[in-house]
Amino acid sequence: MIHYNPTTQTFNLIMRRSQYAMQVDEAGRLIHLAWGPRPVDATPDDLITGQTPFTQANFSSHEQQGRPDEYLTYGDTSYHEVSLKVNFPALPTAMSAAEAPHLPIRDVRLRYAHHEIVHDAQPGYAPQHGLPTGKTDPRETLRITLQDPAQPFRVTLCYRLTPEQDIIERWAELENLGDAPLTVEQVYTAVLHLPNGYYDLTAVNGAWGQEFTATREPLPIGLRLVEHRTLHTGHRANPFFLLNRCGQAWEESGAVYFGQLAYSGSWRLTFETVHSLNLRVHAGYNPFDFELTLHPGSRHKTPALICGVSGDGWGGASRRLHAFLRERVLPQPPQLPAWRPVLYNSWEATYFNLSEQGQMELARKAAAIGVELFCVDDGWFGGRRHDRAGLGDWFVSQDVFPNGLQPLIDEVHRLGMQFGLWVEPEMVNADSDLYRAHPDWALHFPGRPRTEGRNQLILDLGRPEVQAYIYHCLDDLLAADDIAFIKWDYNRSQTEPGSVAGKEIWLRHVAGVYDIMDRLRQKYPRLAIQSCSGGGGRIDAGVLARADQVWTSDNTDALARVRIQEGFSLAYPARTMEAWVTHTQNHQTGRILDLNTRFHVAMRGVLGIGSSLNALSERELQQYRQYITFYKRIRHVVQGGDLYRLQRLEEFGASAIQYVLPDGAEAVYSVVVVEHKIGQLRPSTPLRGLDSRATYALFDMHNRQVRRMSGYELMTRGIPGHAGVGIGYAETLYLQKVESTI
Ligand code: DGJ
Repeated sequence: MIHYNPTTQTFNLIMRRSQYAMQVDEAGRLIHLAWGPRPVDATPDDLITGQTPFTQANFSSHEQQGRPDEYLTYGDTSYHEVSLKVNFPALPTAMSAAEAPHLPIRDVRLRYAHHEIVHDAQPGYAPQHGLPTGKTDPRETLRITLQDPAQPFRVTLCYRLTPEQDIIERWAELENLGDAPLTVEQVYTAVLHLPNGYYDLTAVNGAWGQEFTATREPLPIGLRLVEHRTLHTGHRANPFFLLNRCGQAWEESGAVYFGQLAYSGSWRLTFETVHSLNLRVHAGYNPFDFELTLHPGSRHKTPALICGVSGDGWGGASRRLHAFLRERVLPQPPQLPAWRPVLYNSWEATYFNLSEQGQMELARKAAAIGVELFCVDDGWFGGRRHDRAGLGDWFVSQDVFPNGLQPLIDEVHRLGMQFGLWVEPEMVNADSDLYRAHPDWALHFPGRPRTEGRNQLILDLGRPEVQAYIYHCLDDLLAADDIAFIKWDYNRSQTEPGSVAGKEIWLRHVAGVYDIMDRLRQKYPRLAIQSCSGGGGRIDAGVLARADQVWTSDNTDALARVRIQEGFSLAYPARTMEAWVTHTQNHQTGRILDLNTRFHVAMRGVLGIGSSLNALSERELQQYRQYITFYKRIRHVVQGGDLYRLQRLEEFGASAIQYVLPDGAEAVYSVVVVEHKIGQLRPSTPLRGLDSRATYALFDMHNRQVRRMSGYELMTRGIPGHAGVGIGYAETLYLQKVESTI
């Protein structure tokens, strides 16, 4: 609910368990008042009145940075981090010749002009494919327009509410109302002001094969940046955060503020704690090498920052983000199944050694063990017999598939599976027909060598003809063959981003990728997309509005994966988290792990298989089949349930998690031991979200009922742990409510 008091000019945004308030002050500035959990006994009529004015306590507080402006601009009395920096070419009114050397005018001031409450507002980069999401009811959006008193420029701050998740999506819309172009040097989507105090920041860092390594650190007084300066989201960090007052939150308790950017390009989160312990979080485009020209009459919408506050710890923050992404972001057209299918991917089985016959054999084995979607990975096109050639030539290779893809696709369909294909559309190898024909289509700076990464260059999506080429190649493939799924990869970070779009390539590349995905999804509503970038390099809420699942990491070692999945789960739902069972001896780490460990870890997300099925015995294939059958029984709970991290690795060396349906009728409990803590018994763990008055039957993966316990006992004592279990011990139990009264 959005409430406005015209007397005090106060705005209250009331959500299920939290509130957000701001006010126009006597000078017309929009000032932040409060954000946080609501008292448990609050009623809808309990509002912040704004009658206690913001006090200016000392000299420094007259500066803009002493005031919690809803949008901090460069100008006025600012010298801290700001959300907006604009160059105005001149004054719109007459200026003396003596003032000309003072140009451009780098000073933005914003004053309240008007506001409206609407129901159909969309942030920048909102998907254009027109496919529905799980929930489609319109949401209230508050739009507050602020005008610069001296320049033909205005900013509209937008707040779209999803009250059931305590989430606000924030974005800004910039408009040039004058007749000369303006250049924007820095623009964040939003600034958040948190209640004063010292804060712990939870974020992730990583690299290829080690994505989503979670860290928690106290924020310093001053600045802490979390960012990626590439044309994709990146491996080294991910655009989300959790924040809590130091020592005042835990997994299931305490106030935790969270945020996540819906954007897949160069981004930055800036955490600035000023000396009054006012923490401001700026989130949005990375200002590094940034420039946006606003032409006369034009408008720019930033991507959304999805933000909120949980009163129930980090777990509560994750569950809110998961539900939001599942219900409001992921496309859910009626043509697609509610749950992601079990996938087979041939990459680790064959690498570049593809053949029609080999893929057919894999497909038959995959179907026999219960796979539902068969995906051919890299190497099927052009001269792509290794990673030094072929990218850009998206034509089926006669060397690999002499009869085209159709015979394989027909066989996959005959076997009852869907067919999927790998592509990496934004890239080109120098050794390709595309590059030989259009060397200028690759990003580069004149007079400089073109640095290759994994032997490849990046296409310049600043060129409309490049975007058209990519779209037509993919459209031709999808039109010719019945392809249900594409794995969209991106295997290098850009360097030398020289483009015909100049510095705006940072924005245009992302907009171009989104546009191509949107048009394909609109034309082929049965198509699903997996976002991959050398593993988990392009995972964010922007791409998830177009993609159904993501490749979390190329590291398929089950124990390494537990840690990656735990970090991933802080922000993203299991419904998107693809995980493969691969070989006994892992290709990335060389570690040998038994099948049980590998399956129980992969079953925590969207199950996939990447093993060389041709090298497995009948007995092993039969085991695969049993695990897959069990997964199909539990996947609606894994992919659609609420996640509880019952035991985190950092505490116990073991990870125990639970997925539970909102009505508490079904749950999945999964435990994996990653470290051997000598002398430490594996503790039992109280479960959550069940019906304490009910009885539950607990089934193992062989569908055997191993226990019957009351909801009360499960939620107080938990499932008994085993003594002396070793590294790699893993177990998954399915819990089903069998009686509602005990
Ligand atoms: C990187 C991906 O993460 C892998 O799964 C695989 O698709 C390779 N690229 C193919 O080049």
